[in-house]
Amino acid sequence: DRLAVGIDIGGTKIAAGVVDEDGRVIARTRRETPTTEPEAVLDAIVEITAEFRAELPVKAVGIGAAGFVDASQSTVLFAPHLAWRHEPLRDRVARRTMLPVMVDNDANTSGWAEWRFGAAQNEPDLVLITLGTGIGGALVIDGLPYRGHFGIAGEFGHMQVVPGGNACECGNLGCWEQYASGRVLGRRAAAAVAEGSPIGRRLAEAAGGPERVEGAHVTPLAESGDEEAIAWIAEVGDWLGVGMANLAAALDPGLFVVGGGVSDAREMLLGPAREAYSRTLTGRGYRSEARIVRAHLGPEAGLIGAADMARLTARRRRPAN
Ligand code: BGC
Ligand code: NA
Ligand code: ZN
Repeated sequence: DRLAVGIDIGGTKIAAGVVDEDGRVIARTRRETPTTEPEAVLDAIVEITAEFRAELPVKAVGIGAAGFVDASQSTVLFAPHLAWRHEPLRDRVARRTMLPVMVDNDANTSGWAEWRFGAAQNEPDLVLITLGTGIGGALVIDGLPYRGHFGIAGEFGHMQVVPGGNACECGNLGCWEQYASGRVLGRRAAAAVAEGSPIGRRLAEAAGGPERVEGAHVTPLAESGDEEAIAWIAEVGDWLGVGMANLAAALDPGLFVVGGGVSDAREMLLGPAREAYSRTLTGRGYRSEARIVRAHLGPEAGLIGAADMARLTARRRRPAN
């Protein structure tokens, strides 16, 4: 029971791997997420697991899913960026793979990985914010994942930060993830390309064609010194800091870990985030401020945490001998 499969199902990509007990990824694969067909996602999970199993003795499957997972960790209730609605994912995968299956929210599995093997090792608590397609959140409190009464704790991305603001995929208006996620950069980049503005042309050139431009092209452009790209990332960082100050009002953590693709922008993102945090924090000047650091495990955090949770869960379920 040393090896487990970890599968991270995000809003755009599925990342999967075989992970050992020390959190090392010893085999990996990637594909695009089928966003409209729940059946196709299920097929992909089963296929990926079978491929790994043909090579390695895996004993459990862990899934980090970009959605609201119920308290029994069997069902994805709702997923803003995917087609899951009341999807009994755990049992469907277990029936088809005949392996023990663990399901949790994708940000929760990333948070667990950072707490076990990454930026929050040796910390009692963790508050993780992942900036990907949306904003994901995770809490580890006294060494245990905190999931809330109904399983849905940590949906920080859907805190309302702008009354009547931008429409969110969840159906509400003004959610935090509409101001501080990868999709924000993607939307800006697409608009700049459509307008044919100077930065739009620079992005198209960097991407190898206007139709290839994605949010992920903004960070390398900013790294090359592009003032406008730097300003876009700083604005996302500013919103990130404002949201973290709100989280501090509720949770008062000692450490925030920021992960997800947008965190590749490092200090271009975290500098403005820290400034906005200090500027917005309630009781500022009279209280200690949490450290804000970048996640350590990169884009594999979600699958590493999912595999680790699956391994631990499978072990707990087996009768002691
Ligand atoms: C979803 C979360 C998910 C996050 C990151 C949000 O829109 O509501 O469940 O963790 O995106 O993928
Ligand atoms: Na979460
Ligand atoms: Zn929302």
